[in-house]
Order: sequence, then structure tokens, then C-alpha cells
Amino acid sequence: MSASDLAVAATGLHKHFGRTTALAGLDLQVEKGIVAGFLGPNGSGKSTTIRILLGLLTSDGGTARLLGGDPWRDAVELHRRIAYVPGEVSLWPNLTGGQAIGILSRLRGGVDTAKRDSLLERFKLDPTKKARSYSKGNRQKVALVAGLASNAELLILDEPTSGLDPLMEQVFTECIREVKDEGRSVLLSSHIFAEVEKLCDTITIIREGRTVEAGRLDALRHLHRTTVSIVLDREASVLATVPGINDLAVDGPKATFTVGEAELGGVLAVLSSYAPHTLVSSPPSLEDLFLRHYGGPAAGSAPSDAPAEGKHRAGTRSTPPCPVPASLPVTCQFRAP
Ligand SMILES: Nc1ncnc2c1ncn2[C@@H]1O[C@H](COP(=O)(O)OP(=O)(O)OP(=O)(O)O)[C@@H](O)[C@H]1O
Ligand SMILES: [Mg+2]
Repeated sequence: MSASDLAVAATGLHKHFGRTTALAGLDLQVEKGIVAGFLGPNGSGKSTTIRILLGLLTSDGGTARLLGGDPWRDAVELHRRIAYVPGEVSLWPNLTGGQAIGILSRLRGGVDTAKRDSLLERFKLDPTKKARSYSKGNRQKVALVAGLASNAELLILDEPTSGLDPLMEQVFTECIREVKDEGRSVLLSSHIFAEVEKLCDTITIIREGRTVEAGRLDALRHLHRTTVSIVLDREASVLATVPGINDLAVDGPKATFTVGEAELGGVLAVLSSYAPHTLVSSPPSLEDLFLRHYGGPAAGSAPSDAPAEGKHRAGTRSTPPCPVPASLPVTCQFRAP
């Protein structure tokens, strides 16, 4: 794949915060026109990666490219082409939701008003209320409406639905499908497996600042085993010698085991000779894939609180990348002070 096919290309990213290692050689690629899931346990480095991609932080090593540009050097131009929605949205308390959407939209060079009005309706957001009166979910809707109403080529969403109720979650899912149908790209960080499974073409799972699994979701599933629960017409211990059966647990005629994709056909042929009464097979879920990487120490990982190697760079910028007053308390767009 050539660099021009990638909306995001990050290679070997390192980032230290004092003694804490947030990123330890992270790789992330997002092809243009797809929805890419970005998963990892709390503190694994997702938001830090996103802040580097947004040009809000510098990395201490590695390379990052966003829509072919440099996130730090080309920030002003890139921010007109991307939309960012964080999990925690802070807004100007005295402005209405509609005014906040207007400002956020102008940062990206304007808004499609018909699209904005339709999104306000779909997300059931009253834009006339002051931001200070909004709940967490409503503040998140403001950032979502502004982002989705834009014609941004790339949407960067960091746990964008953490405050939404299930009905609004459904609206979000539909909106992201539409974004994808329009050929735009999405980087979606989320802890909601069902959301990622419904929406994402690829996933990248990170752990302690490193990428531990990445690829097409369907291809990754094939690397993992299907779980089979079965009731036979005899003691299920006969399955102990069947090639391809793993993790066998037997309880009289009942058995549960796992089987790899390549061995599935052979195992099913043997099972049919035991006249099974019932057979339930469950494909590996995203949750299975993720939880495999969740517990225990990550192989070859550096301790996350190890002393930083090399020189620690200043890291944050004090000026916003967009032509708005830096004193305004919006977190959606600005570099950290
Ligand atoms: N500004 C900061 N100063 C010091 N440490 C930080 C800072 N930002 C992040 N960290 C640390 O860097 C590590 C990665 O944090 P990050 O917020 O990127 O994780 P995350 O994957 O987004 O987690 P979550 O799922 O909880 O949002 C953590 O150990 C965190 O404490
Ligand atoms: Mg985070």
C-alpha cells in the first residue's frame, strides 16, 4: 500500500511524560475510506497517540503522517480537513450549543447547514440552550454534530459515545456508516466492543504503548479459534484424542472446546460419527481477541513508569492551530496549554 492510500501512518511512536512511558514504539495505519477501530486498556496510549496525530503533542521518536502531512508542522491546513471528537467535551459555558457548533464548524471552513439541522434532529439536541446547562451526553452531541456536519476527510473520534444513551449510540452508528459510504475515513477509539464490531473494517489493539494486534477484523478472527459446545450420545471424553480439539472440558456427554479454522472441517467429520444431540459454535468475538491482550504483562514491554530514555522534549504547544482566541475554553480543537 502506498503512503497516499493512508489517512494515518504512524510508525514507532515514542512518548514519555517524565518517568511515565506512554508510547513505546506504537504503529498505527488507517487506510483511506475505512473505519479503523483503535482499542486498548485504560492508560495504554490511545489518547496520547491521537493528541500527537492532532498536533497537540510532539512525539519523542518515530514518525506520524496525517493525510500526507506533518501533524505538527502542517497543523493549520490539516485541521481544516479533519474533525475531532473527544470523549470529554468542554464548551464555552455562556454560548449556546448552536453557537458552539457554528464556531467549531467555521474552524473547518464552514458547515453544511441542511446536514447540521438534520443531525440536530437525529441526535435530539436543542441548540438554543446554553452550554453550561448541557449534560455530558449533550456536550458530546455538540461536538459530534459539528464533526459530522463537516465535510472532513478524516474523523478522529476518541471514545465519542461514552456519554450517549443506547438510542443515540444507534444514531451515531448510522451516521458513521454514512460517513464511510461517502468515502471518508474514520479513526475510532472505543471501549464498546459491539460498536467497534458493527462499524470497523480494521482494528488496532495496543497495550502499554505498543501495537499488539492489527489488521482486518475478519482476518484477525481467522487467526483465532471457534468455541464449540456439544452434547454427544456417549461420554464426551472420547474427544480427548481427536486432532484439532483444544481446551477440552468434559462433563458426562457434554463438552466444550476450541478449534482452529484449519482443523474445523476434520473435527466436524469426527463429531458427526458420535451422533451429537446439540452443537453450538461461537466464532471468536472482538471481546475474545481483546481480552487475550488485556490481562498479564505484555511480552517484551517496558515498565510504563520506567525512566525516560534520551532527552524529553517540551511536548506541547501554547498556540492553537486554528485562528481563534486561545483563551476560549474549548478542548475540541486546541493544543494543550
Ligand atoms: N499529560 C500527561 N502527563 C503525564 N502523564 C500522562 C499525560 N497524558 C497521558 N499520560 C499517561 O500516559 C499513559 C497513556 O495515557 P492515555 O491517556 O494515552 O491512555 P488511553 O489509552 O487513552 O487510556 P483511556 O482508555 O483511559 O482513555 C498513561 O499512563 C497516562 O497516565
Ligand atoms: Mg483515552
